[in-house]
Amino acid sequence: MIVIKGEYIVLINKNLKIVLVSILFLCLLIIQSCNCNDNNNDLILLKSGGTPIRCDSKQKNDVYKKYNINDGDVDTIITGYKTRDFLDVVFNRTSTRLFKDGPDIPDNDIELMLRTAMASPTAHDLRAWSFIIVRNRNIINEFINMCINQEHNGSSDIYKKAKLMVVVCGNPNAVIENDLLAESAKIYSQKKSFVDIDLGEYAYSVDTALASLNLLLAAEYLDYGAVWVDIFPWKERIEYIINKFNIPNNIVPTNVVFIGYPSVQKNPKNKFEPNKIYNEYWGENFLFNK
Ligand SMILES: Cc1cc2nc3c(=O)[nH]c(=O)nc-3n(C[C@H](O)[C@H](O)[C@H](O)COP(=O)(O)O)c2cc1C
Repeated sequence: MIVIKGEYIVLINKNLKIVLVSILFLCLLIIQSCNCNDNNNDLILLKSGGTPIRCDSKQKNDVYKKYNINDGDVDTIITGYKTRDFLDVVFNRTSTRLFKDGPDIPDNDIELMLRTAMASPTAHDLRAWSFIIVRNRNIINEFINMCINQEHNGSSDIYKKAKLMVVVCGNPNAVIENDLLAESAKIYSQKKSFVDIDLGEYAYSVDTALASLNLLLAAEYLDYGAVWVDIFPWKERIEYIINKFNIPNNIVPTNVVFIGYPSVQKNPKNKFEPNKIYNEYWGENFLFNK
């Protein structure tokens, strides 16, 4: 019996060893897969555009070889790129107006947000926008106070403590500054092909709006809170911003985007209104097959 017990103990020890080794092996696998994911988080953006290349920084050279690219072809490499679901970003974005203190927003986050802003669609590829990055606390506060004084529905705490203010500006002359477009715009307006609209105003308004949207989405992607606040059409805000930032006469500041750390939990609205979606023609609602 004693001998059998001994063998039994030896057997348990053996099994225990196998279990321990298996656990160790599993842990190593998990650690390795975590490292892999971390390392896979570089995004190479090419100067020529094209689909960004996602890669493991350790395998950068292989990737360069595979895609036949040199350092000179690379615009930037976004490191520490995190994967976040598109739907998660879109449906989590909501206007954040209450911010709390926090560290300065790092330059690489600002760069990423501005890169996404400028990646937005733009009328005739005119890119009728410009942006001013404002981190100066006094100026941000001055503008916030002006907005709070003018808004009737907000609390006196709104926008305060936003870390960053991006002033979005439009160029109403972008169309006429483009020889080819100016010429065709002239021809079309002579033929009365267009409704009565200033094409320049139309282009910059849409361009700045789309860029601002991407900025808001990028802020959400990076876990900041952000809100669009009008400059246009408020006379006082336009004058203040133009004077403060020496904005040239031909440029229109349209809006700012405040970015910072949300002080309350985000509570995005459900704005889906199926009754506003029609099927083939105006009137009958589109019915989604589920
Ligand atoms: C053209 C435009 C102007 C806006 N102006 C302001 C503004 O001046 N102040 C503000 O707090 N929010 C402003 N917003 C944000 C809207 O109030 C907000 O998007 C809307 O209430 C929907 O809420 P959500 O962004 O949380 O989905 C503006 C949004 C747009 C698109």
